[in-house]
Amino acid sequence: MSIVVTGATGKLGRHVVEQLLEKVPADRVTAVVRSAEKARDLADRGVRIAVADYNAPESFDGLFAAGDKVLLISGSEVDRDRVRQHTVVVDAAKAAGVALLAYTSAPGTLTAALADDHRGTEQVLLASGVPYVLLRNGWYHENYTENLAPVLEHGAVVAAAGGGRVSSASRADYAAAAVAVLTGEGHENTTYELGGDEAWSFAEYAAELSRRTGREITYNAVTPEALTGILTGAGLPEPLAAVLAGVDASIARGELVVSTGDLSRLIGRPTTLIAEAVAAALPA
Ligand SMILES: NC(=O)c1ccc[n+]([C@@H]2O[C@H](COP(=O)([O-])OP(=O)(O)OC[C@H]3O[C@@H](n4cnc5c(N)ncnc54)[C@H](OP(=O)(O)O)[C@@H]3O)[C@@H](O)[C@H]2O)c1
Repeated sequence: MSIVVTGATGKLGRHVVEQLLEKVPADRVTAVVRSAEKARDLADRGVRIAVADYNAPESFDGLFAAGDKVLLISGSEVDRDRVRQHTVVVDAAKAAGVALLAYTSAPGTLTAALADDHRGTEQVLLASGVPYVLLRNGWYHENYTENLAPVLEHGAVVAAAGGGRVSSASRADYAAAAVAVLTGEGHENTTYELGGDEAWSFAEYAAELSRRTGREITYNAVTPEALTGILTGAGLPEPLAAVLAGVDASIARGELVVSTGDLSRLIGRPTTLIAEAVAAALPA
């Protein structure tokens, strides 16, 4: 019986494996990866490595065992049929008789196009009869703090979120929730709406950046159409730019505010504040 993590060499997956290793012996953890080379450091620490690809159903044959607890981290190939990709994992988990399949989904309130694959995967998982946990992850702080260079260059946070607020949290916080579910008991057939304890606005985010840098950084609120144009101008493919602008429109409608408290309850501590994430991300 193993705790199995897909997407283990991704940014969230690495946090999950790291935190699992603090709680269970390495040989009880299986990292599902596309590249064994990329996972060499994990193998060196005794983590079991399984190579599989959501696009190759046969690569999941026999990968899971009865009683395994599995974390399916949603794929990142947004131009592919991710519901079909995730169904491959659900089918393999069902065939093996796993004890639990947790899936990293999106907030139930999110209507942006980005949520469609998550809703589709949730339906497949619920219909499968496999004991499930829906980890409906809210937005990551890192979506913003890993993209500070243009903000600092232009002295402006550009977004199409109006006065909307976001309950973001760090990847490490969401990983801790996944680890709590994978190592704890009694989570079967539960949906968690996960988000940070604090919901912030883009004006407040710009003010925090100003405070920390000592420079004036303003919030430049634009329309979703204008943001799509700005992002394509910066080199993003148009469909992806439109999807990201769609998320901002959802934020403007309040769809990324999560007020359940599920995340801090699951991890047993307050979530990381955006101000802390900003401080950690700014150049010294
Ligand atoms: N809540 C949010 O704010 C937010 C933001 C962005 C994304 N997400 C979602 O959350 C997921 C995890 O986030 P992240 O930051 O860890 O993203 P990430 O660093 O891009 O990781 C994605 C992981 O999925 C794996 N993957 C992609 N396509 C695959 C395939 N065909 N077969 C097997 N594995 C595949 C990648 O494998 P490799 O390591 O081999 O590349 C990687 O490990 C993302 O994939 C996305 O669905 C959420």
